[in-house]
Amino acid sequence: MTILRSVVVGGGSALPSRCVSNATLAETVDTSDDWIVQRTGIRQRYLCGPGETTSVLGARAARAALDDAGLTPNDIDLVICATSTPDHTFPSTATQIQAALGIHQGFAFDLQAVCAGFVYAVATADKFLTSGSARRALVVGAETFSRILDWEDRTTCVLFGDGAGAIVLEAQDGQGTIADRGVLASSLRSDGRHRDKLYVDGGPGSTGTTGHLRMSGKEVFRFAVGSVTDVILDAFNATGTTADDLDWFVPHQANRRIIEASADKLGIARDKVVLTVDRHGNTSAASIPLALDVARKDGRIKHGDLVMIEAIGGGFTWGAALIRW
Ligand code: COA
Repeated sequence: MTILRSVVVGGGSALPSRCVSNATLAETVDTSDDWIVQRTGIRQRYLCGPGETTSVLGARAARAALDDAGLTPNDIDLVICATSTPDHTFPSTATQIQAALGIHQGFAFDLQAVCAGFVYAVATADKFLTSGSARRALVVGAETFSRILDWEDRTTCVLFGDGAGAIVLEAQDGQGTIADRGVLASSLRSDGRHRDKLYVDGGPGSTGTTGHLRMSGKEVFRFAVGSVTDVILDAFNATGTTADDLDWFVPHQANRRIIEASADKLGIARDKVVLTVDRHGNTSAASIPLALDVARKDGRIKHGDLVMIEAIGGGFTWGAALIRW
């Protein structure tokens, strides 16, 4: 019996032109390269300049993914953009990407699950593709967090960066086994009781302003290491796989210590962990597709590899997806 699977057929990414090292940041923020590297593993981040908006970065990443897949705008009938930093309150960034690429059919929408946004978007696209509601999806994670940071708050502003990444998912026939290429399992969770631990203190429906990011760093850290492994175990259990079967673990890139502690807890070998937080900082919903693109281009992620993506973000929201590349 054949079943539909959502198979990754292309990927791409985009970064702003300005790269800012910790040392450069320390010229204007009361911090140091040592403090940032020791606490987070971050060495630099890319920050957008004039004209580099979320939709501009998202469209660049989406176009690269389309080219990589050898497809044209006519081939795409779904665009999902995971972002918490849309160009405008509305219309959605996804429709702006759709227009920029010349995609005139199908449908497009934004998905907001903060740093877990890309995992949520992959799981959502998978539902549309495997139910036959769409044939090929552009799944984009794009963010310009530098525009919602309080640059006077050194406990948050050193952690984030801007960027975008995208993949193309295509509905293809599979055999219904874990040898199939495509999304094999996904698990999503949220718990709004934690909404005040990582949030933005403004918005169109409350203050009428954009607001700034606020975070209780220690509490986020504790939750990220302590609780998010449940969704990964869900994906393992749903497929009868274990950490030993994984080729690559591509977690949300927020903090090297969180990533390594989670991998250790799950028994995932450190050499299977893709780490890009050192060069990108935390780019929220863009971090996983950016990391995927790095590991794909440097030859680590290959067709047939088993890849676990996982993220946690404000809300809290968290999720994981197991993908045969
Ligand atoms: N540079 C230098 N010193 C800084 C600093 C900075 N950028 N930010 C804070 N400090 C100082 C604090 O003022 C404090 O000084 P004090 O002891 O004199 O009061 C000291 O460093 C320790 O601060 P603390 O908040 O206890 O640090 P920490 O070890 O908890 O690390 C984080 C802070 C943010 C790196 C850590 O909590 C973390 O990574 N949390 C998770 C954040 C995250 O990943 N969020 C996104 C999830 S999607």
